[in-house]
Amino acid sequence: LAVVFGVIAAAKNSANSSDSFKNVVINRCETYLKENMPGKNDCKKIWGAFEQAYIGRDPCDVPPEVYDPLISSVKQDVACNTMLFWSKTKTMVHAFTDNRDCMITLEDTLLGFLFDGLTWCSRNESKETFTTDCPSWSDCQNNPVRSFWIKASLNFASTACGNVSAMLNGSLEAPFSSTSVFGSVEVKNLDPDKVDGLTVLLVTKDTDTTTCNHSSFHNLQSILDTKIAYNCREVPYSTVEVCISDPEIPCSDCL
Ligand code: APR
Repeated sequence: LAVVFGVIAAAKNSANSSDSFKNVVINRCETYLKENMPGKNDCKKIWGAFEQAYIGRDPCDVPPEVYDPLISSVKQDVACNTMLFWSKTKTMVHAFTDNRDCMITLEDTLLGFLFDGLTWCSRNESKETFTTDCPSWSDCQNNPVRSFWIKASLNFASTACGNVSAMLNGSLEAPFSSTSVFGSVEVKNLDPDKVDGLTVLLVTKDTDTTTCNHSSFHNLQSILDTKIAYNCREVPYSTVEVCISDPEIPCSDCL
């Protein structure tokens, strides 16, 4: 009898890891839709399109294209002039955009919000989703998480319009890296017919020595389409901090 219960418990546990991941995503989806855009999207359809991308596949054999059906299953327009890219500023940028509608990052859109901070993979011939023992970002190129963010970032950048911004980290020796997702995917996929300009917001502390003159920004300009105007502005970290602590301060007074 103990053996039978052991088997039942094991089966229940394995079902739970798949189920609880699905629940997290569906709950996030319903919460987001309730707060932002009721009626437009179908969380169950989105889950189905997501799952078909990686289920049953070796976790190092999930190329970005498998997420195409997921991308087309999500319906959302982001207003022109509000898109905010970032690199090496994740915590700060999200603290800033939380409770503010004037700037929108990928993780503030439904697609990014659903999977931010999550890890997932399946296995060859498995029907399950695992959240542990999955390849990490650079273990292998075509892993489910990395391919997802590459595809989501590509989609976010290629739909951008008007004047877009990028919050970069002035405390780093080289604030722009051509191998980051921002540098290798987003900058290259801005559409010069839709995007007028890219403004780098270099967040700097008093003790930082990196400025908008840093040579890494020459690399950025050489990757950027010449039809897109380039600007860079140093923004004091202290200003961003004040704005994070008070969401009532308008964006125009912050950046
Ligand atoms: N190892 C582990 N995680 C990584 C790695 C890496 N080498 N590179 C990227 N990531 C994941 C992590 O989750 C990290 O927090 O991507 C996140 C962002 O990495 P950054 O290097 O800070 O930034 P970047 O690669 O430029 O990506 C951010 O892409 O997600 C989009 O629109 C978003 O503009 C943003 C950009």
